[in-house]
Amino acid sequence: MTSLVARCLILLLVQPMLIFAWQDYKDFKVFELHTPQAEQESLVRKLSQEKPLLDFMRSSGNGTETSYLKVIVPPEEAKDLVSILEGYHVKHRVVIEDLAPLVQAQRADNLKRKQRIQLPHLEVLEAFYTHSEINDYLDTLPDRFPKRAQVKQFGWSYERRPLKVLTITNGDGRRNKPVILVDGTVHAREWISPSMALYIIQQLLDNYVENQELLADFDWVIVPVVNADGYEYTHTDSRYWRKTRRPTSNPECVGTDLNRNFGYEWGHDEGSSADPCEDIYRGEQPFDQPESQVLRDVLLHYSDRLTWYLSLHSYGNYFLLPWGYTKDFPDHYQDMMSVAEAGAMAIIHSTNGIYTWGSTYYVLYPTSGDTADFALGVANATVAMTMELPAAGFLGFDPWVSHIDGLVTESWVGVRAMAAEVIRRYPA
Ligand SMILES: *[C@@H]1O[C@H](CO)[C@@H](O)[C@H](O)[C@H]1NC(C)=O
Ligand SMILES: *[C@@H]1O[C@H](CO)[C@@H](O)[C@H](O)[C@H]1NC(C)=O
Ligand SMILES: [Zn+2]
Repeated sequence: MTSLVARCLILLLVQPMLIFAWQDYKDFKVFELHTPQAEQESLVRKLSQEKPLLDFMRSSGNGTETSYLKVIVPPEEAKDLVSILEGYHVKHRVVIEDLAPLVQAQRADNLKRKQRIQLPHLEVLEAFYTHSEINDYLDTLPDRFPKRAQVKQFGWSYERRPLKVLTITNGDGRRNKPVILVDGTVHAREWISPSMALYIIQQLLDNYVENQELLADFDWVIVPVVNADGYEYTHTDSRYWRKTRRPTSNPECVGTDLNRNFGYEWGHDEGSSADPCEDIYRGEQPFDQPESQVLRDVLLHYSDRLTWYLSLHSYGNYFLLPWGYTKDFPDHYQDMMSVAEAGAMAIIHSTNGIYTWGSTYYVLYPTSGDTADFALGVANATVAMTMELPAAGFLGFDPWVSHIDGLVTESWVGVRAMAAEVIRRYPA
């Protein structure tokens, strides 16, 4: 009897925590809105003001089915949304009736696969990993590669997670080589991004013999997870979270878009939002997020030898160059275009994967305060680029584990070719 009472008590105490921590998306629907790319931004603005609970999956596709804007809709909002869309004459359809079983199936798949892995070692192709698992793995590298790998902590996230930076060299002891700087997971839900960063690390460390020319005259600096809190939150709470986890002036809305928070041409309404409830909320001030401060510090630390800055995002198959904030082109735009073209050509020859390249403003949409504009405009990168890896899974951001191999091996072909082109054009 007493044990039954105790069990009920435990259930009562534990259950609500479980329910409120994990966003299960029960009966959440996914709508696909058939709006031209050019009208997408203004539609998102209008809708998110009317309906702050909608979660827009800003895609980056153009001209393919992935270019349709998808939006996650709580069950109680669905009817309203339909009438609003009809009012705007926006064609739409429901592509997922209940997101819950899909999210649950992916989560179970990943957890099951992870049981077979001997942490802290990671099998990049076999699972997705949390921020702390990635950090523990990074910490093993200087022991395994004492001459070639160095881990440094540049700061903390808002929730006090250590933000670590890995430097990879060829171990010849030459100092101050030019740098290729790669970051990942600026946006939390783009899970292929940390996988790609880890794959690059393994190519340069474990697969060194095949890739040694990429390290002969250049050092690589890699930040696998910039938005540590947001990324952890996609593992523990809400799979499709994008922003940071710092509260805003609006108690209803948490988080800032790090890729609108950088202090170069920050704050334009074309390309970012002052509304904390929006997914492209830029913050109150440039660099008011600890995570953007850390990435800023890393970029500035290497600015006098920063040859190529590469930011890994998903999705849409793009190589995006500055500027995002203006339709004007930067100096040396054609040189950057040539680097991007080398990546696109290598990928099309290897897998038929099709990439588009050009300035963010032109090929995608205006952005203000993004990391690549800062890397070029302030940190003096020779080439600055955002790479949008391909879509996979239900909403583009959510590949299955079984997709990782194809996505990262194809993307590596592109990254490798671009690195070779950077090294050829800008010899040390
Ligand atoms: C995007 O698609 C639209 C419509 O197909 C087209 O007019 C536009 O040129 C495309 N933009 C790019 C950069 O490909
Ligand atoms: C970038 O280059 C400009 C022009 O040479 C220089 O004034 C500026 O100090 C450099 N920025 C950094 C962060 O070194
Ligand atoms: Zn992104």
